[in-house]
Amino acid sequence: MSDSQRQLSAGSEARHGSRRPRILMCPPDHYGIEYEINPWMDRARQADHAVACDQWARLKALLEAAGAEIVTMPPVPGLPDLVFTANAALIYGDSGGGKRAVLANFLHPQRQGETPHDERWFTAQGFATERLPARFAFEGAGDALFCGDTLFAGYRIRSDAAGHQQLGNMLGCRVIPVELVDNYYYHLDTCFCPLNPDTAIYYPAAFDEYGLRALAANVANLIPVAEAEARRFACNAVVVGQTVVTNAGCPELHNELQARGFVPQATPLDEFVKAGGSAKCLTLRLDGEEAASWRDRPPQAAVKPA
Ligand code: ARG
Repeated sequence: MSDSQRQLSAGSEARHGSRRPRILMCPPDHYGIEYEINPWMDRARQADHAVACDQWARLKALLEAAGAEIVTMPPVPGLPDLVFTANAALIYGDSGGGKRAVLANFLHPQRQGETPHDERWFTAQGFATERLPARFAFEGAGDALFCGDTLFAGYRIRSDAAGHQQLGNMLGCRVIPVELVDNYYYHLDTCFCPLNPDTAIYYPAAFDEYGLRALAANVANLIPVAEAEARRFACNAVVVGQTVVTNAGCPELHNELQARGFVPQATPLDEFVKAGGSAKCLTLRLDGEEAASWRDRPPQAAVKPA
């Protein structure tokens, strides 16, 4: 570890105290390409089940080595995309120290059967579960990512902009809706990844002019990725402290991250890319993402005047 990396990780320990990052995953027992709901999926290009299980286990081991506790939810036959736990819910802390899970309203009927399982799991784990009105499609942390105090929310392909506004009212936080313009980058977490409250990775061509301006105006340090690496899901990274885990095959991004004091790690996830997902999609941070300011400063119910 270099001096600057040591300083950064000491800083993040101070920031987080002794809390251990908690990440939800779901084993790929019933994973496969059983339908086509995004341009990556093709039933003729099936996932190799044994390889997928191995890749999933390696991702889990890497996150554990980075210091995270992995909790799993039971896989369910007939729900092949349940492995993509990022879509289960958006997690938010409340001022009483409790955790809220705003469950997904999946756009496609193929994934709608996941929500009762997600709801049962979150309730059993002590989360307060909430839903947006059924008329709004909303795909959880796949389309809603905190960078600092601001929730960036992707819309048009899987989630509705009007639902994002309502989400902001529910949580009492600022929401910046950004339109996704390329069907290959159909969830915000396929083209945008906050690393800390001031820094994010992004793939510029997945956004329109307005979205690019909104990102530039609100995130101090933006790290662009090139098309070849965006296609390898470079932006679909899991962040644990300074460690940034992506699919293999993103060397340019990894060099850039290293130069900025992060610790990039690669692990092959091609079997999940066949379904349009990668590292981040396979995980859901239960204690707040590194970049989410509420992790350290839970939102206050009301600020009393002096
Ligand atoms: N096949 C899944 C879908 O199309 C992949 C989900 C990937 N998840 C994500 N957070 N980007 O819904």
